[in-house]
Amino acid sequence: MTINILIVGAGAVGAFYASRLALVSSTQVSVICRSNYKAVKANGFAITSPKYGSYTFTPYHTFANPRQAIDSKIKWDYIVVSTKALPDVSDDSEILEGLVGEGTAIVLVQNGLGVEEPYLKRFPSAIILSAVTIVSAAQTEHGVIKHNRWTRISVGPYLPGSTSWVAIESNKRFVQLLQAGEIKDAEDYSHSKLQMVRWHKICINGAFNPSAVLSNGTTNNAMSMDPELYIHLKGVMDEVLETAPKVLGTPLPKEFATSEAILKSTQKNTSGSKPSMLLDWEQGKHMELEVILGNPIRIAREKGLEMPRLQTLYALLRKAQENRDRAKSQSHL
Ligand SMILES: NC(=O)c1ccc[n+]([C@@H]2O[C@H](COP(=O)([O-])OP(=O)(O)OC[C@H]3O[C@@H](n4cnc5c(N)ncnc54)[C@H](OP(=O)(O)O)[C@@H]3O)[C@@H](O)[C@H]2O)c1
Ligand SMILES: *[C@@H]1O[C@H](CO)[C@@H](O)[C@H](O)[C@H]1NC(C)=O
Ligand SMILES: *[C@@H]1O[C@H](CO)[C@@H](O)[C@H](O)[C@H]1NC(C)=O
Repeated sequence: MTINILIVGAGAVGAFYASRLALVSSTQVSVICRSNYKAVKANGFAITSPKYGSYTFTPYHTFANPRQAIDSKIKWDYIVVSTKALPDVSDDSEILEGLVGEGTAIVLVQNGLGVEEPYLKRFPSAIILSAVTIVSAAQTEHGVIKHNRWTRISVGPYLPGSTSWVAIESNKRFVQLLQAGEIKDAEDYSHSKLQMVRWHKICINGAFNPSAVLSNGTTNNAMSMDPELYIHLKGVMDEVLETAPKVLGTPLPKEFATSEAILKSTQKNTSGSKPSMLLDWEQGKHMELEVILGNPIRIAREKGLEMPRLQTLYALLRKAQENRDRAKSQSHL
């Protein structure tokens, strides 16, 4: 039986995982492209990776838009969504209208918290799998994907207040496909453990990402070496690590890195890496502010908990983005 996989958001992360899933003999992996359509339709994706070498990934179908994917009449087993999560710009669950059928699992490979909710709302009976990945990848030009190092992806069924063996099984099979595509660190998680992983990643992204922009473009390493910024970063991370167990109703696993451990490894890493929000800011793009800062703050607030450090970063950066976009639109008049 062929497993049909559709990638929505075939950028750095989407195309990289697509190229690994496509190696499995039982899969047919198709993509919906946007700005990179012409390049990918002509030449597929060129992938370079220190771990997997250089290779070409030619999708089974390269669609220019969702309509073409619907017209293909394929019944999708998995629809992987790896657009940037920008709920303040667009509700990307809309792209999946007409594509989600009986037994289709929607796999969200995106940063942040609360990314599952728009999909659950629109497709209440669909299987939703939630994935957190640590990968460093970039689309350096249309259809050219540079994978920078090792990869980890944790996947869990999204089952808030419910259970579904079908979703748990579907999750297991998806992780097995990733492993068959040589993603050794693909892990099958429960709903609750996956949400813990999401919170833990907020601790890192919520501290480093906005601070890099608000400090006028400081790298992670340079921030961790600055004594005042060290205190600031540790404060933000500890605030998130203290709030997460109260929201989730369960302590975070002991094996999750502490704020000190994260700062220590950042101090050792002199590679000059810039967090994604800084790259987006520098390119004049929208930042994933709502899912990395706004949603955690709102989810905690619903439980009567405030995160003043994270809230400060959110309020300042959101206004900075608003001012930048206003200046940009006025200069275009
Ligand atoms: N890159 C990393 O190393 C990394 C690591 C961990 C987590 N993540 C997370 O993974 C997610 C994806 O990030 P990314 O770096 O892969 O972003 P990306 O390279 O910008 O890829 C996103 C892709 O989605 C496409 N897209 C957006 N809206 C679309 C639509 N309506 N229809 C069709 N295509 C659409 C974009 O097309 P256009 O080019 O036309 O905009 C782009 O190709 C984010 O949540 C990010 O935080 C990334
Ligand atoms: C840093 O400041 C300079 C000078 O004002 C400005 O041109 C640059 O865009 C700023 N960079 C960031 C990331 O804020
Ligand atoms: C340091 O950061 C770079 C860029 O993100 C990354 O490729 C590398 O794996 C990191 N090293 C460690 C030890 O975390």
